[in-house]
Amino acid sequence: MRAHEAGALHGNDAAPTWLPFPTDVNALIPGLWSSTCVRDADGALEIGGVSATTLAEEVGTPAFVLDEDDFRERARAFRTAFTTAFAPHAGADVYYAGKAFLCGAVARWVDEDGLGLDVCTGGELAVALRAGFPADRMALHGNNKSDREIARALEAGVGRIVIDSLAEVRQAARVASDLGVQAHVMLRVTTGVEAHTHEFIATAHEDQKFGLSITSGDALTAVREVLASPELGLVGLHSHIGSQIFDVGGFEVAARRVLDLVAQVREELGHTIEHLDLGGGFGVMYNTQHTPSTPEDLASGIAAIIEKECHELELEVPHVAFEPGRAIAGPSTQTLYTVGTVKDVRLGGPHHRVYVSVDGGMSDNVRTALYDADYSCLLAGRVSDAPPEVVRVVGKHCESGDIVVKDEYLPADVQRGDLVSVPVTGAYCYSLASNYNHVPRPPVVAVKDGRWRTLVRRESEEDLLALDVG
Ligand code: LLP
Repeated sequence: MRAHEAGALHGNDAAPTWLPFPTDVNALIPGLWSSTCVRDADGALEIGGVSATTLAEEVGTPAFVLDEDDFRERARAFRTAFTTAFAPHAGADVYYAGKAFLCGAVARWVDEDGLGLDVCTGGELAVALRAGFPADRMALHGNNKSDREIARALEAGVGRIVIDSLAEVRQAARVASDLGVQAHVMLRVTTGVEAHTHEFIATAHEDQKFGLSITSGDALTAVREVLASPELGLVGLHSHIGSQIFDVGGFEVAARRVLDLVAQVREELGHTIEHLDLGGGFGVMYNTQHTPSTPEDLASGIAAIIEKECHELELEVPHVAFEPGRAIAGPSTQTLYTVGTVKDVRLGGPHHRVYVSVDGGMSDNVRTALYDADYSCLLAGRVSDAPPEVVRVVGKHCESGDIVVKDEYLPADVQRGDLVSVPVTGAYCYSLASNYNHVPRPPVVAVKDGRWRTLVRRESEEDLLALDVG
């Protein structure tokens, strides 16, 4: 168990040090809200030209509201930035990481906008295939793929299967042989990089489940085995160091170690690795503590790192790929909730905390409970002249850790029936959603040019009951 980070007497008069006192508690913090989000003449938030009040009436709450233009602009910005930065070399591809959020419409946008798609389970693959996403621009990930998942990817013609272990080299060869096809594979290697992020979302240090260790020699063994297997064609090497990373230093160390392996493969095995995939992980702004880089700065910074390393190792710059998920999907979406119970809890002496309960919670956003994530929020249906007060936004689940926003200033007159919106919930919120306490999952609606449409419908009580066949 973890004690509360600010101690038992942390009251609403003691905001965390990172949380600035708002000069205007109704104002949208720049960079935190999707590109079309403004306050309308009535003071309600308006996203894609649709007011939050209209959405609450017509869609209901809770609801994920996805700003379509914002999502697609970010997707295109990443694609353009990386293809431009690597144009002098062998080029670059950007694969959208569908684990952040995937549905048919998103798969079609990503296709139309010229990105590839990273899927990591049979389920994500099924969504993408049903949407008509071209299989040759897909990558299949996963540390524990079933034969069926590999076979399905091979039958569909998935462009690259990213192999995660020595056992999987043999497994992929066997499945490909059974089908009489050659599997195009990448090898995911672990570089030993300790990414500066939450432990659960760092993926390149040695003691975790992903990848083939470079240090132990497994990565080189895997390259040797793939090259010796006629059923397998080696596309290249893959490295993903973690998620919600702001510092390109981690990519620098990872790129150096992977390129050292590329040089070693050239020397010892006489084989030139032509493709390098450096994964995703670019951080986004969840609150004022975060300062993400632009796609252009990330692309030019990483290109400079790779050029330098390749130059020193006398290697041609390989064709590169990146797999941003959060940085495309995250900022596009906000979750609209309706306020229910507002409770002022006395903590002893002058200390107290205002708990604002909303009609969703850890079933639609588990990131606060799981990663200690700090979110932000605004009153979404109106503006208020009341003074700012620190509140804790909590859900409706039967658990005291069911916190959506740990600390944020809202107007002190926040009350039952108010709409509250939490920004930057487009990545790893719907995709991590659950039915905890048999709470149905919210819908995802896209807003654009004054209209809304449902991408994923709200789960109904009938949906929940339909699974219970015992
Ligand atoms: N590529 C690979 C191989 C990955 O494993 C991931 C994320 C990505 C790309 C995309 O990373 P992104 O650009 O979205 O950071 N549930 C956690 C994040 C888990 C990320 C898993 N892999 C969270 O909510 O923070």
